[in-house]
Amino acid sequence: MTKESQGTETLRITTSDDLEVSTYLEIAKQKAGEQPIPAEAPEADRETVLVIDFGSQYSMLIARRVRECHVYSEILPYDAPWQKIASLKPRGFIFSGGPGSVYEPGAPLAPAYIYETHLPILGICYGMQVLAHQLGGRVALGTRREYGHAILHQGDVESPIFADLPASMPVWMSHGDQIVELPPDFTSLGYTENSPIAVMGNKHGFIGLQFHPEVSHTPHGKDILANFLHRICGCSGNWTLGNFVAESIERIRRQVGEGRVICALSGGVDSAVTAALVHRAIGDQLTCIFVNNGLLRRDEAERTINTFKRNLRMNIDYIDASDRFLGRLRGVTDPEMKRRLIGEEFISVFEGEAAKLGKVGFLAQGTLYPDVIESTTPESMASVKIKTHHNVGGLPTSMTFTLIEPLRYLFKDEVREVGLAMGMPEEMVLRQPFPGPGLAIRIIGEVTEEKLDILRAADWIVMNEIKQAKLYRELWQSFAILTDTKSVGVMGDYRTYGYLIALRAVTSEDAMTADWARLPYDLLARVANRIVNEVHGVNRVVYDISSKPPSTIEWE
Ligand code: XMP
Repeated sequence: MTKESQGTETLRITTSDDLEVSTYLEIAKQKAGEQPIPAEAPEADRETVLVIDFGSQYSMLIARRVRECHVYSEILPYDAPWQKIASLKPRGFIFSGGPGSVYEPGAPLAPAYIYETHLPILGICYGMQVLAHQLGGRVALGTRREYGHAILHQGDVESPIFADLPASMPVWMSHGDQIVELPPDFTSLGYTENSPIAVMGNKHGFIGLQFHPEVSHTPHGKDILANFLHRICGCSGNWTLGNFVAESIERIRRQVGEGRVICALSGGVDSAVTAALVHRAIGDQLTCIFVNNGLLRRDEAERTINTFKRNLRMNIDYIDASDRFLGRLRGVTDPEMKRRLIGEEFISVFEGEAAKLGKVGFLAQGTLYPDVIESTTPESMASVKIKTHHNVGGLPTSMTFTLIEPLRYLFKDEVREVGLAMGMPEEMVLRQPFPGPGLAIRIIGEVTEEKLDILRAADWIVMNEIKQAKLYRELWQSFAILTDTKSVGVMGDYRTYGYLIALRAVTSEDAMTADWARLPYDLLARVANRIVNEVHGVNRVVYDISSKPPSTIEWE
């Protein structure tokens, strides 16, 4: 340990790493000499602040807020190895919240090497308690749990964390434990009615916030984060997605050289932007494969081909494998089985096509940051799997491609910005997400040609009416579901016995949670009317008014 951190005598160290070197920069230099710089190594002037995750549901939101302040951010688990941290050359750390209690045996704490960097640390909620506990303060169960709105009052001591902010402001709290004794050399910087120490700080840029600045219920939260990043970590805020595009193109060129790349297009935003970036970098060395699985919406295949072939001038292999997919799905009603069969069939078709192309060394994939985080979250912190969301599944080991994943560190809204920054058509970039297994998981029960026709016709009406009402972009998703319920109706003088269509429209930031959209009654009436009149076989329409959780967005 270094001299200065020895000064904080009560620092309880959770790892036994015996680092001799005084600053992390020296260690980073040494490490860089020992091993090749990873492909995603940062450019020299990229300002990075790392979110250290203690199991909070808000870690991703914190990273997003940091990036909105034009400082690059990644999330690492609390026990991330030193080499990983050093390779990112951070300018500061944010300790996330978490469900634990720091005084319980085995509670996650920060490794000593983070403190030994002497870089600023912002602890949020549990993260603040980690700071207090490890640096010699005391955390205990509060007299009552504090959840929801509170008014924060600044203390008498001024701190850059509150620069240009009002003396009192609303904040969002969610905690049971609280700081009952400050660590040595810390001062209290703010309080609420229930938390006498709601904010604390020391002169080395260690700050603790008992509330959550990252959620929208803390209206000045983003200013507080910006103060930490700009005034305490000294970041100028020079990270933009424009820089990102230029950096990625350079990196792809270096990685691929003269090699060839394939990319599976799905018609969705992620694979489209991936393909566009790779194409911008290496042109005709890229071949895209577009598999029509027979589960697409009306005109979707034609539109996708048009955009990529005519507008963006890419090499595209189009394969109509509808019969193969529908054959596999015959008689299958279980949602997870549908996903598995579609995934397997996709791999089989893709493998066959790739083999025809001869020697190809690289596979470009539109993996996004939330997928990466999910797959690297420690077992103990991972949430239960509700649905398998992987379209392409794991590729078989016999396919030995090197992966290119240029969007690996981006969030969905950032991917859209990248697409727009590259001049891609809005129609493609601002599309609502569409699941990989397509209409198969919007048909409850067995998938048949007849049901696909019914759902395509209903879906077309929903999409058109939503677009006409200029609500398409405001909604996260809006679509129709063909249920397996039939009910009695009357048309003219005849009794009908037809399908029930459900409408689903939700607002969401990231699909983790979603609220049902309060669509105007007139719009709902128009959609229902048109579906019943224009779609043969349907005589009833209902609107789904459940939110996620406890429901999910898709019905299967
Ligand atoms: P749920 O239904 O879990 O959906 O609330 C959340 C988001 O994920 C999409 N989704 C999928 N996407 N393959 C995909 O590529 C899937 O199997 C799948 N299942 C759901 C869904 O459309 C929503 O945006």
